[in-house]
Amino acid sequence: MRRLLFLAALVFASCEKKPVEVGEQSLTVHFTCDTFGRLEPCGCFTGQHGGMTRLRTWLQGQDRDGPSLRLDVGGALAGSHDYDRIQYAYLLRAYSAMGYRALNIGGREAEVTADQLKAMTAGSPVPIISASLIDASTREPLLDPYVIVEDGGRKIGILGLIDPASCPDPGKGLAILDMPAAVDRVLPDLKEKSDVIIVLAFTGNPGMEQLARSYFEFDMILGGDVRQPAQYLETVNESVIAYTTNEGRTVATMKATISAGERPRLVDPSYKVELLHEKIPQDPEFRQMVKEYREEIRETELDVDRPGENGSSDAIPGVTAAATYVGSESCQACHQDEHAVWAKSGHAHAFETLVKLGAESDPHCIKCHTVGFGEESGYRREYGANKLTGVGCESCHGPASEHVSEMTSGRPKRFKFRPLGAADCTGCHYGEFSRPFDWEKFWPHVRHGDDGP
Ligand code: HEC
Ligand code: HEC
Ligand code: HEC
Ligand code: HEC
Repeated sequence: MRRLLFLAALVFASCEKKPVEVGEQSLTVHFTCDTFGRLEPCGCFTGQHGGMTRLRTWLQGQDRDGPSLRLDVGGALAGSHDYDRIQYAYLLRAYSAMGYRALNIGGREAEVTADQLKAMTAGSPVPIISASLIDASTREPLLDPYVIVEDGGRKIGILGLIDPASCPDPGKGLAILDMPAAVDRVLPDLKEKSDVIIVLAFTGNPGMEQLARSYFEFDMILGGDVRQPAQYLETVNESVIAYTTNEGRTVATMKATISAGERPRLVDPSYKVELLHEKIPQDPEFRQMVKEYREEIRETELDVDRPGENGSSDAIPGVTAAATYVGSESCQACHQDEHAVWAKSGHAHAFETLVKLGAESDPHCIKCHTVGFGEESGYRREYGANKLTGVGCESCHGPASEHVSEMTSGRPKRFKFRPLGAADCTGCHYGEFSRPFDWEKFWPHVRHGDDGP
């Protein structure tokens, strides 16, 4: 990546000697933020939006309108588990295949350790930039702070920033500079090398506005660490500001004209945000890539395969886990009615659902389609489809070994199940993983026991 930057600088240097009159030209930027590992929609209900499988189809549809600059503001990574980092390599392949020119570091990327970050970004097929992220001990940047992209006759500088407030807990060995400090380190260089500057700013609205107010050099500020995509673009000082988010469900477009002359500005900016709705077909090549990812994850030993190690709460010395998971079959003899209702419900078959999709080894899916995944006595990938698969009795009621042993031994009944309610369902039935959850509508389908009216 460093070499790329160097080359770009050389090209510029040679241009500088024989200045050519550059006319007006148009600029189209497609940008995403908060992709959250969504290579494809998970399929938990029909009519789901989003996924890079759809983003690709959509972007290919835009190709007929001419070239566009494709950028990601950050948050592509799904989390800080080892399997998230494995998936990240596939995300990078996907961005590269879609012609992305730069990815910025967002909150989740800044939560991995410095060593993990180095491994994840080494040899990336897309430049990953951040002027903010530094090595905590040397205070040196870990990535290129910016890239310069040539577009027509113009050089577009793309600067990567993350607000420390958007990542209060950076990974071991990492530190995040305040935005002004990060900007001041590189702005003189960047200004000299670019005609137009686009900032990828992983920060909230106030952060973006502050950047616009503090620096007249920024033509476009794209964010961000926000709850909803911008509906309109904002103009503050010399900058246009727009932002998007939404776990891979949206893509935003900014269009403008780069004016002619010595000191080009962006004129007539327009902005639009697009929902990647379910009618957009999923790209078959990317679906194939999802398969490859799942095959790799199936073959790889992960930290979740050894729960109890790596500091899980079950492993606190001197504390014996009170109850362990025993499986829904152990309940059948005494709770025949409840068991019969459950066996007919989707919950009992939730693991088969994953097996049919080849997703049964993907921890991103397993956690809600099994019992106690990640806990010491819970489901483990090595069990295959044999034990604690599906949403079992104990997925809701909790580990029940104590109850079973009390009930079978006739010991005094001390163990108490927690009372359950809607909040116990929405641990799994939320967001893109469920149709909108409504107790009154959902509970009757799985209702059992004596819960009153
Ligand atoms: C946060 C919990 C959660 C995660 C993570 C999750 N699911 Fe689901 N899944 C659910 C819930 C809840 C439903 C039921 C949704 C409903 O009924 O509206 C469901 C339903 C499904 C269904 C539809 C089953 C049917 O026949 O109706 C499929 C397919 C599915 N999930 C696949 C996946 C895959 C693949 C992944 C991983 C990429 C995954 N799920 C990750 C919670 C989850
Ligand atoms: C040996 C018989 C037996 C087995 C096995 C058994 N139960 Fe029970 N369970 C009972 C009895 C009897 C009660 C009623 C106890 C009472 O009302 O004091 C009960 C009550 C419950 C209750 C109601 C809440 C409470 O604390 O009273 C829940 C929930 C429950 N069992 C879940 C389970 C689950 C889950 C399993 C399997 C992991 C299971 N039971 C296995 C006999 C059993
Ligand atoms: C551990 C995660 C999890 C919890 C907790 C959970 N569900 Fe589900 N639920 C699922 C999954 C996964 C599916 C999809 C199963 C499939 O078909 O593969 C599902 C499907 C359903 C369905 C549709 C299938 C059917 O049988 O009608 C209903 C209704 C439902 N859940 C209701 C509830 C209710 C009510 C609660 C709380 C009392 C709850 N769920 C708690 C994961 C969960
Ligand atoms: C999707 C979550 C979920 C699953 C799966 C589930 N339950 Fe329940 N169960 C509940 C809820 C919610 C209630 C009603 C509220 C309560 O009792 O806390 C309930 C009630 C009960 C009761 C009656 C409690 C009482 O006080 O009357 C028993 C017994 C019971 N469940 C046993 C089971 C057994 C056995 C299984 C597996 C075969 C099972 N449940 C599976 C959520 C679940």
